[in-house]
Amino acid sequence: MVKIILLLLAPLGMAAASTDCPGVLSLDGSSACGQSCGTKLLQDLCIHVMVWGGVDMSRSQKEGGTGYVILAARFAVESMDATRLAARNQLSQNTSLSGQERDAYEGCLNDYAAARSSINHVAKEMLPGVADEFARGVKSLESCWIRLMRPPKSTPLYDLVWADRYKLLLIHMLDSKLLGI
Ligand SMILES: *[C@@H]1O[C@H](CO)[C@@H](O)[C@H](O)[C@H]1NC(C)=O
Repeated sequence: MVKIILLLLAPLGMAAASTDCPGVLSLDGSSACGQSCGTKLLQDLCIHVMVWGGVDMSRSQKEGGTGYVILAARFAVESMDATRLAARNQLSQNTSLSGQERDAYEGCLNDYAAARSSINHVAKEMLPGVADEFARGVKSLESCWIRLMRPPKSTPLYDLVWADRYKLLLIHMLDSKLLGI
């Protein structure tokens, strides 16, 4: 179980960025992705996150499981920022958006602000209550997703939000498989 720890993150890369609780296993990046990710899609995403975070994927390079979860959360935050920006740009520049789409995008901006705050919390501090914070983040993102599920589904934001959901799913998989939370 995760005890009270505060993680000081290096600005880039994750080497020495995390402090693991006693009992959290250390493993290399490939094994972390292999153990946690059931589907090819998640597995590929996981490897992508590792490479993004500068993880040395050689089998000899072991990190604590917490570091991988943190990394996945940081990756999701960056991705959500990009989605938020895309939504803003669509609202300000795309005159073809329907009224319904505009409403959905406005709602999504709020949902994303909330989701970002929660997941950023997960990325910064693996404190008790982090599971609740994560759940709040998922709920906020799902709220946006539901807005976009209404037709037309071809709306420009659809794919971005779909991908962000997978990024949160990856955090969840790493969380539950590596940390048991
Ligand atoms: C603008 O919005 C319309 C309607 O959703 C969409 O079909 C189109 O691809 C958007 N244009 C750009 C440049 O994203």
